Amino acid sequence: MKIGRNDPCPCGSGLKYKKCCMRKDKAARSFKNLKELYWKKYKIRLKEKKDILGIKRAGELVVKTLDMVEKEIRPGITTEYINTLVHEFTISNGGIPAPLNYNGFPKSVCVSVNEVICHGIPGDRVLKEGDIVNVDVTTKLNGYYADANKTFFVGKVSEDAKKIVHVAKESLKRGLSQVKPGNSIGDIGWAIQQYAEKEQGCSVVREMVGHGVGFEFHEPPQVPHFGKKGHGIVLVPGMVFTVEPMINLGKRDLVILPDKWTAVTKDGSLSAQFEQTVVVTETGYESLTPYDL
Ligand code: MF3
Ligand code: CO
Ligand code: CO
Repeated sequence: MKIGRNDPCPCGSGLKYKKCCMRKDKAARSFKNLKELYWKKYKIRLKEKKDILGIKRAGELVVKTLDMVEKEIRPGITTEYINTLVHEFTISNGGIPAPLNYNGFPKSVCVSVNEVICHGIPGDRVLKEGDIVNVDVTTKLNGYYADANKTFFVGKVSEDAKKIVHVAKESLKRGLSQVKPGNSIGDIGWAIQQYAEKEQGCSVVREMVGHGVGFEFHEPPQVPHFGKKGHGIVLVPGMVFTVEPMINLGKRDLVILPDKWTAVTKDGSLSAQFEQTVVVTETGYESLTPYDL
């Protein structure tokens, strides 16, 4: 039976329905429809309040982990040491390092130095003064996943290194500035490409993309860091995904090493990346792995 707008509110407040729960109920109904539509049409699972809170808690641990690692970055440490730090810190805070055994990935974090674009496997590579190193942390906490990364300087670095890290950071900022309901996924990539390639003369990696996240490590949709204004899926509140542009100082081409994971620039040029997990809100977005950009 349908409740009339002038009927008493079913919540028992004694107010008329229109003065009480009517708006909230309408919003909930349209969310329910959108939820169904996005699931059926795109296999995207829109997140509710409680899910967003869970992802945010996981995200807080991710950012704490990145902060902890940043303090340990110095010449002479191995990438394996960063793996140990991340693994132990995550476990001791009640989390699970999501990369470990993910599709056969052998370590708990991705550590990508200089010409390594992403998915670097921690090992005996020693960080040296002048390197740049990306640490990509994904943590599962109470069933929820959050994913973020940052590129750090190892001691004093070259002007080239400063440039590529700055451009990668600003690329994430430009991409995130497009995240609001009604915009499209293509707007994000367009803004990144416009800045990194057209304005800065760097290049955007095509093979690896941002992704839905939260209930799983990688969910639909894919979020390319290149694209056309107005193309792709329309953003709606409750969508949770990463933006994680990989920017090369030279050409965009990549090579995957025989370990089947490590992606390096084909021309050997430097590559940098910053990543955050965000949720689309009614008015824009909120980062669930917030750090200063
Ligand atoms: N954290 C990466 C991302 O941002 C994915 C790494 S997959 C792994 O999507 F298996 F290498 F961990
Ligand atoms: Co990611
Ligand atoms: Co990541």
